[in-house]
Amino acid sequence: MADRLLITLFLVLSLGHAHSALAQHLKPRLLRDRRNIRPNIILVLTDDQDVELGSMLAMNKTRRVMEEGGTSFSNAFVTTPMCCPSRSSMLTGKYVHNHNTYTNNENCSSLSWQRQHEPRTFGVYLNNTGYRTAYFGKYLNEYNGSYVPPGWRQWLALVKNSRFYNYSLSRNGQREKHGAQYPQDYLTDLITLEADQFFRASKQVYPHRPVLMVVSHAAPHGPEDAAPQYSEAFPNASHHITPSYNYAPNPDKHWILRYTGSMRPVHMEFTNLLHRRRLQTLLSVDDSMEKHGESMEKGTRLSV
Ligand SMILES: *[C@@H]1O[C@H](CO)[C@@H](O)[C@H](O)[C@H]1NC(C)=O
Ligand SMILES: *[C@@H]1O[C@H](CO)[C@@H](O)[C@H](O)[C@H]1NC(C)=O
Ligand SMILES: *[C@@H]1O[C@H](CO)[C@@H](O)[C@H](O)[C@H]1NC(C)=O
Ligand SMILES: *[C@@H]1O[C@H](CO)[C@@H](O)[C@H](O)[C@H]1NC(C)=O
Ligand SMILES: *[C@@H]1O[C@H](CO)[C@@H](O)[C@H](O)[C@H]1NC(C)=O
Ligand SMILES: *[C@@H]1O[C@H](CO)[C@@H](O)[C@H](O)[C@H]1NC(C)=O
Repeated sequence: MADRLLITLFLVLSLGHAHSALAQHLKPRLLRDRRNIRPNIILVLTDDQDVELGSMLAMNKTRRVMEEGGTSFSNAFVTTPMCCPSRSSMLTGKYVHNHNTYTNNENCSSLSWQRQHEPRTFGVYLNNTGYRTAYFGKYLNEYNGSYVPPGWRQWLALVKNSRFYNYSLSRNGQREKHGAQYPQDYLTDLITLEADQFFRASKQVYPHRPVLMVVSHAAPHGPEDAAPQYSEAFPNASHHITPSYNYAPNPDKHWILRYTGSMRPVHMEFTNLLHRRRLQTLLSVDDSMEKHGESMEKGTRLSV
């Protein structure tokens, strides 16, 4: 229910540059094969990440991977910044009034969604054109693990809402329970490893086929469990203390701000703690991005 904003990071490393440079060395047969020139796509999602509070400052590796030879969109918008509606839009390309998932509960992964919309996600279309597709991590908030959505060759999705430990996954339809051991149960690390294995195996066995992979993290959403090595990071982080921090009363604002008063010290201490914990979870995502960046580079070389 706390899900508001879903930041999406697109990592699309096109084969374009490498291809033109190497084109002259390729056999004509390979050049004729259109499948060779399609980019691998890794769509990385984080859950509830902010732009305004400086969270990207915690993600130097990500910025390096994305900014060197990539791109960033500084003026992008989501049409419905709420978790399940937004995820449903991302999967289908439809506005909420067309896919009818207006909340994180009703119609989120519902039977009508499964019948009308899930057979038309980008996973289905890209699989149909020859992409090797895989999904890892959080899916729709109400997804209960009882089915594998169409289009995904490999499926390892979180049952229900964001967790880092003590969750269940659906592994290609088989339910798999996880405990609280680090690193093997830590969701960020687990999906990173599995996605990386899928990517490498795909490139080894089918070097000429493009990969579409979704890596969908729970971080930095609650319960904000950091990896042990990061649990002391950012002891005094204060980027969340912007000029609008604790500004109240707000009689001219949205109803929730109208009746929210100023915070007492105990509440402010809580915002500090929350901010620290959120940033800590993002350090593991940062590691994940670095790993995918490296594999992508290798895979691209392999597949050209
Ligand atoms: C990111 O890089 C900046 C500039 O080099 C540095 O000040 C900051 O400490 C780095 N952040 C992390 C989390 O490593
Ligand atoms: C759920 O979706 C169906 C069809 O897509 C629609 O008729 C129904 O009104 C939606 N339910 C809610 C509660 O929005
Ligand atoms: C999961 O949801 C489906 C509807 O999408 C329902 O038919 C099924 O009973 C649910 N299973 C569990 C284990 O909750
Ligand atoms: C992927 O597409 C192929 C070719 O259209 C189809 O045979 C296969 O069933 C699809 N796989 C999934 C998981 O949807
Ligand atoms: C996971 O579950 C165990 C057993 O119920 C519990 O002791 C532990 O605190 C839980 N850990 C987390 C991080 O939820
Ligand atoms: C964090 O703040 C505390 C108290 O304000 C201070 O004692 C400590 O030195 C600071 N730590 C760092 C790493 O800046």
